[in-house]
Amino acid sequence: MIQVQNLHKSYKGNSVLRGVDFKANKGEIIGVIGKNGAGKSTFLEIIMTLKNYDEGEVTVFGQDLQKLTEQQHQAIRANISAVLQPTQFFKNLKVEELLHLFKAYYRSNTNIEQIIKDFQLESHRKTYFEKLSGGWKQKISLAVAFLSNPKLIILDEPTTGLDPHMRNTLWTYITEYNQKTNGTVILTTHYMDEVEMYCDKVLLINDGKAELFTTPKNILALGYSSINDFYLQNVL
Ligand SMILES: Nc1ncnc2c1ncn2[C@@H]1O[C@H](COP(=O)(O)OP(=O)(O)O)[C@@H](O)[C@H]1O
Ligand SMILES: [Mg+2]
Repeated sequence: MIQVQNLHKSYKGNSVLRGVDFKANKGEIIGVIGKNGAGKSTFLEIIMTLKNYDEGEVTVFGQDLQKLTEQQHQAIRANISAVLQPTQFFKNLKVEELLHLFKAYYRSNTNIEQIIKDFQLESHRKTYFEKLSGGWKQKISLAVAFLSNPKLIILDEPTTGLDPHMRNTLWTYITEYNQKTNGTVILTTHYMDEVEMYCDKVLLINDGKAELFTTPKNILALGYSSINDFYLQNVL
């Protein structure tokens, strides 16, 4: 799905990524972790072809991004869905209107009523997006992201600031999507319990480098009581 080698990215001389190696296979759920400002969002945006980079090789669906035209980038984007932060949906649309709009946009044949049922959106279908709570906004964003039946879904802090029930709900959808479609999920999170419970692999970006890329199981095998324990001891 994705292969990244020795990725470097700077913003006007300010070096953010300084050698990141990464690989995502079909059907994997991968958590990207690291301090605020570590470069996690930048990394996701590069994979999504939304940002360029200075050095290294990024291959998505078998194609080297640096060798592609803008039109070819768009073709790649058609197979990726993303929930980036902050969510910038059309404020003056109701939930059901948003779903229909994006269904048309993606030329998706997904049944909206099924989505409303699966995501339990009935109670809020007539609510304007801007009037929703943070958790509901994330839930709707995720429902929209799934509309296009993407091969790859990229989520930037999808559960930040949500209560435990809402976090649990979102993870139920993410794992169901992953199991039903064998779709790949790459997400960032600051919740180490999510990494431990749901992620097949974890990428730690520290000081601009991929400091660690392995399974949560391998981390625990080093003797840490939890991924949180590992993080607190190693990311200083
Ligand atoms: N468009 C931009 N222009 C300049 N600097 C940026 C831009 N986007 C991000 N940065 C800087 O790059 C660093 C990494 O940011 P980001 O990728 O958002 O990190 P994270 O998502 O891990 O918090 C930060 O120091 C941030 O200020
Ligand atoms: Mg970020």
